[in-house]
Amino acid sequence: MLKIIFVTVFIAAPFTAMAQTSPENNAQPSGDAGHGKILFISDGCSECHGTVGQGGVGPHLAPKPLPAEAIASYIRHPAGVMPPYAASVVSDADVADIASYLRSVPAQPKLGSLPELND
Ligand code: HEC
Repeated sequence: MLKIIFVTVFIAAPFTAMAQTSPENNAQPSGDAGHGKILFISDGCSECHGTVGQGGVGPHLAPKPLPAEAIASYIRHPAGVMPPYAASVVSDADVADIASYLRSVPAQPKLGSLPELND
């Protein structure tokens, strides 16, 4: 028993702590859709692009969003009325999460495929 406690506290714990704090661990090329949804709303993107990126004042971004790199380069230097977002405000990792969220939005069903509309 004591040996297990020793192994957990003195050997495993430092590795766990390292895993949580190492910068490599924060690199998420595929993005975290759940966190991306929170950011999409808290960063204000949803105000103009709709809660699920369906469009509004701004164009629709989902269900087939631009790649994360293209979104990042656009939001840093928008061409029209959209306000710019510096990397210090919305990091590349945040953009990867936002892109992942937008990719997770299901496509709208085709109108003719809804039974309610075919009665
Ligand atoms: C104040 C409204 C507003 C906010 C807030 C906003 N956008 Fe936009 N966005 C626009 C408009 C309008 C456009 C169309 C081009 C332009 O005017 O810049 C656009 C264009 C874009 C485009 C290019 C789309 C394309 O198909 O070329 C991307 C990507 C984008 N926005 C992402 C975002 C993200 C991500 C956020 C949040 C970090 C955000 N926007 C916040 C209004 C907004």
